[in-house]
Amino acid sequence: MCGIIGYVGGAPAIPVLLAGLKRLEYRGYDSAGFALQRGNELVALKSVGKVARLAEKTRDTWSSEAQRTPCTGIAHTRWATHGSPTEPNAHPHFAEGGGIALVHNGIIENYRAIRTRLEAKGHVFVSETDTEALARLIGECHRGDLRAAVIAALRQIEGAYGIAVLSRDEPGVIVAARKGSPLVIGVGEGESLVASDPAAIIAHTRRVIYLDDGDVARITADHVDIIDLDEARIDRAVGVLGFAAEAVEKGGYEHFMLKEIHEQPEALRNALRGRLDLPQGTAVLAGMGASPRDLAEIRRIILLGCGTSLHAGQVGEHAFCDLAGVPAGVQLAAEFRYRNPLVDPSDLVIAISQSGETADTLAAVREAREKGAVVLGLVNVVGSAIARETGRGVYLHAGPEISVASTKAFTCQVAVLLQMALRLGRGRRLSRERGIEIAAELARLPELVGAVLAREADIAAIAQRFIGREHAFYLGRGPMHAVALEGALKLKEISYIHAEGYHAAELKHGPIALLTPGTPVVVLANRSSVRDKVWGNAEECRARGSCIIAVVTEGDEAPGADEVLRIPACDPLVATIPAAVALQLLAYYVARLRGCPIDQPRNLAKSVTVE
Ligand code: G6P
Repeated sequence: MCGIIGYVGGAPAIPVLLAGLKRLEYRGYDSAGFALQRGNELVALKSVGKVARLAEKTRDTWSSEAQRTPCTGIAHTRWATHGSPTEPNAHPHFAEGGGIALVHNGIIENYRAIRTRLEAKGHVFVSETDTEALARLIGECHRGDLRAAVIAALRQIEGAYGIAVLSRDEPGVIVAARKGSPLVIGVGEGESLVASDPAAIIAHTRRVIYLDDGDVARITADHVDIIDLDEARIDRAVGVLGFAAEAVEKGGYEHFMLKEIHEQPEALRNALRGRLDLPQGTAVLAGMGASPRDLAEIRRIILLGCGTSLHAGQVGEHAFCDLAGVPAGVQLAAEFRYRNPLVDPSDLVIAISQSGETADTLAAVREAREKGAVVLGLVNVVGSAIARETGRGVYLHAGPEISVASTKAFTCQVAVLLQMALRLGRGRRLSRERGIEIAAELARLPELVGAVLAREADIAAIAQRFIGREHAFYLGRGPMHAVALEGALKLKEISYIHAEGYHAAELKHGPIALLTPGTPVVVLANRSSVRDKVWGNAEECRARGSCIIAVVTEGDEAPGADEVLRIPACDPLVATIPAAVALQLLAYYVARLRGCPIDQPRNLAKSVTVE
């Protein structure tokens, strides 16, 4: 969703800000803008649409020499919530007749009350946004010291924010603050940056300070000073980013999505590294932070997530039941806290989130903790809100995922969930022999996925079957039902073809009415105890003239299928991962044939920080 980048130092801010905004594009947005502090004035530019449009406007507005003038600046990509994507609604927003500029991520929940109060005092709002209310409130509190004004305003705010603020009267200073919306400060040589995401600053420095909720930082070129809302001094350590600038580059691939699909053998290696204990047939997951006795006492597992992470949870549900014999159920994070859920201290709640920022998942985590459950985070982004809030959990180590459509994070989520189920199972009913078999299968994951990637050209050819189609179905049973849902989601997200993932047995209870000759039906019919049942369901579709695209185990026949996609033989739970990779490639090539903007599909955001 929205993104922030700010720069203070000896270099011209414009190129730094525009490059930073480019890096944030993947989060999803529909307008962009920046403000610069030059001499004793603030100047700003905004535009609807892509950052490239803002760059074009910049070139039209300032000479190249003017663009190279060193200055301080803040910039923003906005994903519309309060008010449509228009220039007046784009950030920055201003106070004091343009003397203070603010960019903001998050939502000010009590903005209506603030707006009404300020309007009664004579303020004339120029946008429909909640952010303008905060900007004007900061202006109202301003007595000459920008940070003091920001603190006074934030004390009156309810909601979530990550903000960066400039004042015309304080050259070389950015004030930044966070509550619920991430901000990271980059500490360079004679320059500092602030961003909502390290991807925007990695090209400048790997030395970073993560702000915590309640922190208010005064950032200059060579100093970062942090206090809280009570003005008590806060010390935050400078850390080093765990990835290099290349990790957020396309590295020769046409799209980030394709790069990330191909990174999966390595990402899985990282998600498994040091965790599998092959001789004992178990996994060692230090982040679970529980003694064997604690683990043995878990009576029920609740898996929470949204979107792709929810689908990973669905595979996890099967794994916990099958391997560990623990009743497990996946729940939509968005529903969790509104159902007055029954949760108690013998429950283990696992919150699954690539970004660690998703508002619904975060709210569900808080609800579960309040009810006394043990909550674990299964998160990719280190130091993210969910990782902090849960305090314990297991990182995916998938590396930065830039494409909006999640790929490597999904397969790593499943790999970690399978390891968790193995660990729990070995403390319960799972025999050492069976544990050894599962652990050995998990260890093969990079190789299994590599074998699917080697079939990329065949999969690209199958994508032709979707040309001119408006609907597609994905069918699976057991853990492959989750893969069907995920395969359909991938296709919808990036190719804009309507796709439904369905339980293979349920199709005949309704959706079969939608099948017409040639409708692509992807059938997940790998070797498992239900393979023949799935084939039966595929036959029902074939009898109605559908185009059957069968995902089968290497060496198996696929009688009557129009297209066959083979995955290596492996345990049926583990097979969810290579099968998902095959469907990721299929969606990618369909979207490519249709000329879609694969990495940034319309209307979608990478991190959904609103409920
Ligand atoms: C957004 C993204 C999805 C993602 C979902 C949950 O909708 O576009 O790809 O699966 O959020 O995100 P999370 O970061 O919590 O896994």
